[in-house]
Amino acid sequence: MVKILISGCNGHMGRVVADICKARSDAEVVGGFDILGQGDGSFPVWSNPVQCAVEADAVIDFSSPAALENLLAFGKEKHVPLVLATTGYSEEQLAAIDAASKEVPIFRSANMSLGVNVLMELVKRCASLLGEDYDVEIVERHHNRKVDAPSGTALMLYEAAAQGLPYQPNPVYDRHAVRQRRDPHDIGISAVRGGNIVGDHEVIFAGRDEVVELKHSAMSREVFASGAVKAACYLAGVNEPGLYNMNDLVSAVV
Ligand SMILES: NC(=O)c1ccc[n+]([C@@H]2O[C@H](COP(=O)([O-])OP(=O)(O)OC[C@H]3O[C@@H](n4cnc5c(N)ncnc54)[C@H](O)[C@@H]3O)[C@@H](O)[C@H]2O)c1
Repeated sequence: MVKILISGCNGHMGRVVADICKARSDAEVVGGFDILGQGDGSFPVWSNPVQCAVEADAVIDFSSPAALENLLAFGKEKHVPLVLATTGYSEEQLAAIDAASKEVPIFRSANMSLGVNVLMELVKRCASLLGEDYDVEIVERHHNRKVDAPSGTALMLYEAAAQGLPYQPNPVYDRHAVRQRRDPHDIGISAVRGGNIVGDHEVIFAGRDEVVELKHSAMSREVFASGAVKAACYLAGVNEPGLYNMNDLVSAVV
């Protein structure tokens, strides 16, 4: 049985992670962290990981970049692997994650769904096949509560396209400020926010007289929560410190 702590346990994703663990026989939630304090009473909740009074095999974090410092300190001190699913980290925070992964196993992915990770591969392949002759644009849509834009997944899709293209593209987030034609090496990244859209990502390859579109839609939060629990079970069995991602998980389970 893998003992799991949920960081951000009172949030939308944290609650779905708890439900997924209840339905599994190999994972159990032993506690949670949340600045809001107490949850529904089904497990103990601490506002700061430093107060945590239980043993655990892994932490799953769906909270906020503001929680990172305490989480990394907790993971390193207690030698508990961390699954970081939160998005919107700064460059400094990404460097801190990298440094901490030399001491403790850390799994980080801005998107925990298997489908999106297959989409990445398709985007890379499409970019290498269509090359210079097609304009690449990325459009993402999320619910009206999301604070970071563009989404971490849109940035991952940009990186996937960049790996396949024969040139280094320029990401363009805002065409409002400059009045000029699109540069052929631009990749426009547009963010739509509204309602309760769980998460849509679309990569458009627009050529002369034809358009290729690759799209992923998440229908519920379960797809991400379930991927994060699988990642925690995988990480709990990894003894080596390091930075792990969905490719490691997919290779381990396929
Ligand atoms: N990687 C993925 O597949 C994936 C999927 C969905 C959401 N996310 C990300 O997960 C994060 C949470 O999403 P959500 O929709 O559940 O948000 P939410 O606002 O519903 O929940 C966040 C929870 O974290 C808590 N929190 C905030 N700051 C904290 C801190 N400093 N310390 C401890 N707890 C803190 C809040 O009180 C809240 O309960 C976001 O960054 C989102 O982009 C990632």
